[in-house]
Amino acid sequence: MSSVRVALTRRPSPGDDLGGALVDRFGRVHRDLRISVTDRCNFRCVYCMPEEGVRFLPRAQILSYEELARVARVAYGLGVRRVRITGGEPLVRRGVDSFVEMLSAIGFEDLSMTTNGTGLERQAPRLAAAGLRRVNISCDSLRPERFPSIRRSGDLATVLGAMDAAERAGLSPLKVNVVVLAGVNDDELVDFARFGRETGRIVRFIEYMPLDGAGSWERESVVPATRIVEEISAHWPLEVLAGSDADPYAPATRYRFVDGAGEIGVIPTVTEPFCGTCDRLRVTADGAIRNCLFANEETPLKTLLRSGADDAAIALAFRLAVNAKLPGHGINDPGFLRPRRSMSMIGG
Ligand code: 5AD
Ligand code: SF4
Repeated sequence: MSSVRVALTRRPSPGDDLGGALVDRFGRVHRDLRISVTDRCNFRCVYCMPEEGVRFLPRAQILSYEELARVARVAYGLGVRRVRITGGEPLVRRGVDSFVEMLSAIGFEDLSMTTNGTGLERQAPRLAAAGLRRVNISCDSLRPERFPSIRRSGDLATVLGAMDAAERAGLSPLKVNVVVLAGVNDDELVDFARFGRETGRIVRFIEYMPLDGAGSWERESVVPATRIVEEISAHWPLEVLAGSDADPYAPATRYRFVDGAGEIGVIPTVTEPFCGTCDRLRVTADGAIRNCLFANEETPLKTLLRSGADDAAIALAFRLAVNAKLPGHGINDPGFLRPRRSMSMIGG
């Protein structure tokens, strides 16, 4: 490792007084950071990107791993303890294992990645050795013929292979993200639950959010979390995991199978917003802090990073972003405006 990299990723010391935790106007303490390393992706999932005509960020706009690691280090100094690498698809950016290494050196309690799984079979051992703890792999159908119609690319066998490889490399517990779309894959809820029970993987059912690149989201396409839980519970009774077993800030409501065969998660963003306990911040690949997936305002960091600003200035940008955070995402308000950026440009 070069000395420059060591300097950029050193663990914050008590001398780095960045002025306390990131608490917003509603008392929410921000401890979770999601860093998007690219807006590119080799897939075009129907709920995320349009089929054609995607305009990617020019390379010069994308922050280097050193710049992103510096942002992460400042966030750590402000009390952030969990970090997730997202995209687009993070594994399409070259050298992401070196970024994992930089984040790992900072000392986060949790270091994870959300990926579509392509390339993971080959990269899992290297990522694990670099310090990655866990992965969430997206998989929205267990039917080989249906899979490409949702993701418009790729195949189920590769994604299942990626899950096996992740587990072999010790990236566990493995979570499987399923975006549930009415009339598309909502006939697979029980199949996915069975898959989780048989493999020990934690399947997380995600309500479809108005963040698709094509702008065609409609409420009728959302399958409410209550229906998901009811349908699975009718096969294998479920109970909410509460108390010391559950992280009160996690977006997923966790349920365990009463017979002890594992657990599932349900992310009810649309029908039961959990904004009141949100502890998440995001940094986009072009260096903007987003205080909410659905925010219409961002706090830019790139110019600061590239004009010699010190860490205190970056810390201040985080504080401003947190201070501007609204109490909720407003999806269900009559005047809701979709954010300009869609999911692949923000990072899940
Ligand atoms: N609604 C819900 N989830 C989405 N994802 C991408 N787009 C959407 C959307 N419109 C999920 C992906 C991935 C994570 C990054 O976000 O499936 O698991
Ligand atoms: Fe790519 Fe993930 Fe978006 Fe699918 S959901 S298009 S895999 S970034």
